[in-house]
Amino acid sequence: MKIGFVGLGVMGFPMAGHLAAAGHELAVFNRSPDKALRFVLEHGGTAATTVAEAAHGAEMLVLCVGNDDDVREVVGQALEHLARGAVIVDHTTTSAKLAREMAERAEAVGRSFVDAPVSGGQAGAEKGILTVMAGAEPAAFARAEEMLAAYARTIRRIGEPGAGQLAKMVNQIAIAGVLQGLAEAIHFAETADLDTDAVFEAISKGAAQSWQMENRWGTMVEGRFDFGFAVDWMRKDLGIALNEARSNGARLPVCAVVDQFYAEVQAMGGRRWDTSSLVARLRKS
Ligand SMILES: NC(=O)c1ccc[n+]([C@@H]2O[C@H](COP(=O)([O-])OP(=O)(O)OC[C@H]3O[C@@H](n4cnc5c(N)ncnc54)[C@H](OP(=O)(O)O)[C@@H]3O)[C@@H](O)[C@H]2O)c1
Repeated sequence: MKIGFVGLGVMGFPMAGHLAAAGHELAVFNRSPDKALRFVLEHGGTAATTVAEAAHGAEMLVLCVGNDDDVREVVGQALEHLARGAVIVDHTTTSAKLAREMAERAEAVGRSFVDAPVSGGQAGAEKGILTVMAGAEPAAFARAEEMLAAYARTIRRIGEPGAGQLAKMVNQIAIAGVLQGLAEAIHFAETADLDTDAVFEAISKGAAQSWQMENRWGTMVEGRFDFGFAVDWMRKDLGIALNEARSNGARLPVCAVVDQFYAEVQAMGGRRWDTSSLVARLRKS
């Protein structure tokens, strides 16, 4: 398939790499051009110099950029250049409102839009085992699904446009609470002078088990946060979820307070730290 790919960051670069390995004809574009040049050196394909060039005649346009404004800008520049009937698949984490707006704009000119946020992080993207939660008309989703299998293990259509982003909000709300609980548990263990390795061995296969405990306990104890999913991104995502909750009436008291804790982590210099850095603000004297 002829595919345009925009946004070669931590997530997009390895995702596009899997599409190249699957044999698709790729034209890639990134805001800072060096990443596109590096991609072509490693994986082949064409480095486009504009979004329009990456979109030109493509049957599928895949995006993994930063936020709502980035997606609006890229889709605006791409739409008229895509092949008729083309599908835009957006992996950026955005508001559901933006996804619905983009779906309407695409439909008005005979194209489709699939909001397809992901979970699984950098490691999931590199290993090609991401989870995709999608919002789309069934026909557009069906066309995207086969392509997505190149880098995703679990691919689910949740509902109409916007539903994928709402599911991603559910994911982030759940993670915020789990991480604060884990941070407090480790802080308590340290304050009580327990052997944290022994505690981990005892409790990590029981009812307190979680992906975060399995994958982050060790680095949290070491105070190492220079990797993973950045606090700045998490605040963007929690802001989106809290905004949505203000309009749908859901009550998110823990999510709101953890968002403020992350603001404190940012003020400590942790904007790019992994989200498990919540424990650092508890250690601060
Ligand atoms: N990292 C994760 O673990 C993770 C997990 C799940 C979901 N996400 C979501 O996935 C999205 C991307 O995350 P990431 O970690 O890959 O971020 P990232 O490393 O900052 O990558 C974003 C890429 O998009 C490019 N870009 C941004 N705006 C653009 C525009 N208007 N036109 C062209 N290129 C543009 C950036 O270019 P520059 O090089 O110029 O900055 C950058 O290379 C975010 O919405 C994030 O919330 C991330």
